[in-house]
Amino acid sequence: MCGIVGIVGTETVTARLIDGLKRLEYRGYDSAGVAVLNGSGLKRARAKGKIVALIDELSDNPIDGPAGIAHTRWATHGEPNIANAHPHFAGKVGVVHNGIIENYQDIRAELSHRTFTSETDTEVIAHLMDEALEAGQSSKDAFAATLKKLRGAYALALMVDDGQNEIYAARAGSPLAIGIGDGEMYLGSDALALAQLSRELIYLEEGDWAVLSPKGFQVYDQNDKAVKRDVTVITAGMGASEKGDYDHYMLKEIYEQPITVNATLKNYLAERDQFGDIAQKLDFNSVDRLVLTACGTACYAAEVAKYWFEQYAGLAVDVDIASEFRYRHPVLSPNSQFIAVSQSGETADTLAALRYCKDAGLKTAALVNVMTSTMAREADMAMPLNAGPEIGVASTKAFTSQLTALASLALLAAVQRGKLSGEDAEKQMQNLGALSLLVSTALEQDTHIKKLAKDLSVAKSAFFLGRGAMVPIAFEGALKLKEISYIHAEGYAAGELKHGPIALIEKDTPVIVVAPHDRLFEKTVSNMQEVAARGARIFLFTDSEGHKEAGHMAFASVAMPAADPFIAPIIQSIGMQLLAYHTAVTLGTDVDQPRNLAKSVTVE
Ligand code: AGP
Repeated sequence: MCGIVGIVGTETVTARLIDGLKRLEYRGYDSAGVAVLNGSGLKRARAKGKIVALIDELSDNPIDGPAGIAHTRWATHGEPNIANAHPHFAGKVGVVHNGIIENYQDIRAELSHRTFTSETDTEVIAHLMDEALEAGQSSKDAFAATLKKLRGAYALALMVDDGQNEIYAARAGSPLAIGIGDGEMYLGSDALALAQLSRELIYLEEGDWAVLSPKGFQVYDQNDKAVKRDVTVITAGMGASEKGDYDHYMLKEIYEQPITVNATLKNYLAERDQFGDIAQKLDFNSVDRLVLTACGTACYAAEVAKYWFEQYAGLAVDVDIASEFRYRHPVLSPNSQFIAVSQSGETADTLAALRYCKDAGLKTAALVNVMTSTMAREADMAMPLNAGPEIGVASTKAFTSQLTALASLALLAAVQRGKLSGEDAEKQMQNLGALSLLVSTALEQDTHIKKLAKDLSVAKSAFFLGRGAMVPIAFEGALKLKEISYIHAEGYAAGELKHGPIALIEKDTPVIVVAPHDRLFEKTVSNMQEVAARGARIFLFTDSEGHKEAGHMAFASVAMPAADPFIAPIIQSIGMQLLAYHTAVTLGTDVDQPRNLAKSVTVE
């Protein structure tokens, strides 16, 4: 949710800290701040809002030094203002933090003799550390002692005005990486933050803490024992995340999809329509159930996959919203395969579900876009989306890559479980092979959809309807619209509307219907008639046959490219993305960094 960057060396750091923050801004942008340690102690600059506000502050009040920590915030405790912006200071200590200190109220009560200047949980870390220093402990011992008093999730970077040129770092639940430099060391929430600084990263493990100095670093485990952690060399491409000629990252990422679906596919389907090396590691014939958990858009991909695995592979699938999964005490059999679906690989609830299933003895896999993420490292098996960095907070290319990967795995399961003949499997593999072209063709509807967006942008609320595997696509369409245009929208199974929600339909209520011409099309047309009879304004997303048959019933009709029902959900999702994008642009909202959101939800 928040982004952390740190540098300790001999050269000035402020400009590079700001560059690192810019690369992390997608994680949260309620406020930002930087602290530096130089000959005259700890100095800081903070600003409400985006990094650009901090840059303005720094141009008026420049600070610099050979060591510094910086932070971009997604508010959990305390409103987004300067007082609550990180870094937080107490005495000789400055700290930035990503996560939630669950026992911060108790700590504040214990430290009631001290003066707090913010409403945040984070500030207690600085006070605890300063108390330990005042009690005569060395900075290192004080840091180790402070960590033992914290409960909850944290990735933190801390500096002490003790004449040493060091940064203290710790990780429990929220990701943090050390970057190795020449005569300087770096700290970042993820590889993207450090992409311009170092490609040699050490990912701190649960409970690790570390001391960084220009000469190097030392990692300690949760028992304060010095340990060595592996160095991960980041391949090129992590830095490739510029907007180019597009107005927004989201539009760039929508248009990257003809390429990214293929980039995903090549990990699952090798040449000559054979399964790739992933297949050698998964055996769906040896399990009796597939358990999928995810959040948000990733969960809708899992919901679509349920249709595929059950229909084509005859494998029972449970899909859970990750934030509910572990609390419902699911009945789990070790004879199940668990897959966490996550673009970032860091979503706290999905990670917790992965750990829950691992403890329950299930085979675990993580389908992620970041192969250096915590989920990728903790699952028995990491499966790549390979979609490249997704910067837009609204997930698009990661979603179609999740669908592409899950569709391939469903085919693998169908073949392994003898439910699909070689010929039928080959036909579906060819359908997947044709995805890139069909996605490209779907994008040709962009101009048409842009016009519809103007009509939708005046709405106060909207319904998205689908049947079968289009139900999760309808839910995803509603989420896309909500999260970037701020128009309230509900996804609904078309057959469910008459069980209550149809009471909301009145003249001009926008109803977006996702209905390619498949075996459920006629039933969906009946639902369209029911809402049309009550004055609804129908936006029909279908294909050429559906447009011919029912386009006249709709206020507007979009003929997406015709596709086999197996891959139709992927094609229809492109229309949902473009509709939401253009509606948001019409309304002038912040498409890439919508209010209240962050790209990776690393807190519960
Ligand atoms: C997607 O448009 C949303 N921004 C959000 O729902 C996202 O899909 C969800 O937070 C899960 O993130 P993950 O895929 O990184 O786990």
